Amino acid sequence: MKAEGSPETVHRRASGRVFVIGSINRDFVLKVERRARPGETLTDAKLDLHDGGKGANQAVAAARLGAEVAILGRVGEDEIGPPLLRSLDENGVDVKLVSTDPELATGSAFITVTPDGENAITVAPGANRSLTPDHVDEAAEAMKSSRVLVAQMEIPLETVERAVEAASSAGARVVLNLAPSREVPSAVLENLDPLVVNEHEAAFLLGRKVEGVEGAKEASSSLLTLGPRSAVVTIGASGAAFAGGEADEHSSGHFPAPEAEVVDTTGAGDTFVGALAARLAAGDSLSDATRYAVRAGAVAVTKEGAQGGCPTPEEVERFSGA
Ligand code: RIB
Repeated sequence: MKAEGSPETVHRRASGRVFVIGSINRDFVLKVERRARPGETLTDAKLDLHDGGKGANQAVAAARLGAEVAILGRVGEDEIGPPLLRSLDENGVDVKLVSTDPELATGSAFITVTPDGENAITVAPGANRSLTPDHVDEAAEAMKSSRVLVAQMEIPLETVERAVEAASSAGARVVLNLAPSREVPSAVLENLDPLVVNEHEAAFLLGRKVEGVEGAKEASSSLLTLGPRSAVVTIGASGAAFAGGEADEHSSGHFPAPEAEVVDTTGAGDTFVGALAARLAAGDSLSDATRYAVRAGAVAVTKEGAQGGCPTPEEVERFSGA
């Protein structure tokens, strides 16, 4: 914990409030040489437990980068939930609005990571599924003081819809990471600034392939026709493309990622979103926030675990690539 008045504290105060609504999971991560084929048994995996959930990861990423962050979420009444909340709290995330489901278990994610750092994830959502629009209504007062709302799609769609509506009417900027991808009403899309997707999610929304830098640049502009005020398409090691945003900034562009030694890509997209939200809450333009988030995402892949890779501002500054 830094003393009051230290540079980090000043940075934190300057950064604005980010309100995250989303999933909180325990990640069971198997490091494997390769994934088992159907019907096959592999016996040489190494198991690690990490804190995860796209909502929690994005909250931690924004908090480590200096934003004041609160999360609205749900865990089970089991032994998995409390340590996840403690860890969020230790990372500076306000967990007062996280409630407990007496029947459903805390969300779990089963992740395999291969030597190239690539991940494959299957989620058992548990209590994340019982986060309802009523929970959003109960949190209305807390949401009002936020500059940026961040949501993803591991909680029910109607809950995301209510949060987007509430945050927009309160004047907050809404960042929706459409992960995992699913259909969302245009009333939701129209309130986004930005919509954040990867190539697969962009392809899902546009109904065609999105590949590489040129594909992402083109997709970020095309996504604007679906309604969002701005759109960001992440392209892993190739960085991110953005389109839309404030009239007085470049309205589209691409930022390449610095080269990174990839250890684990799990949660790199979440670090990107958390960093983007933190910088938008601090008043950056979409262009500047995207450039910063690309760097933060590159640092994230150099470490194990979805939250293990969330960098501090100093780590982002220092990182000049592999
Ligand atoms: O984006 C990575 C996250 O997806 C993991 O932490 C896992 O919990 C799933 O929610």
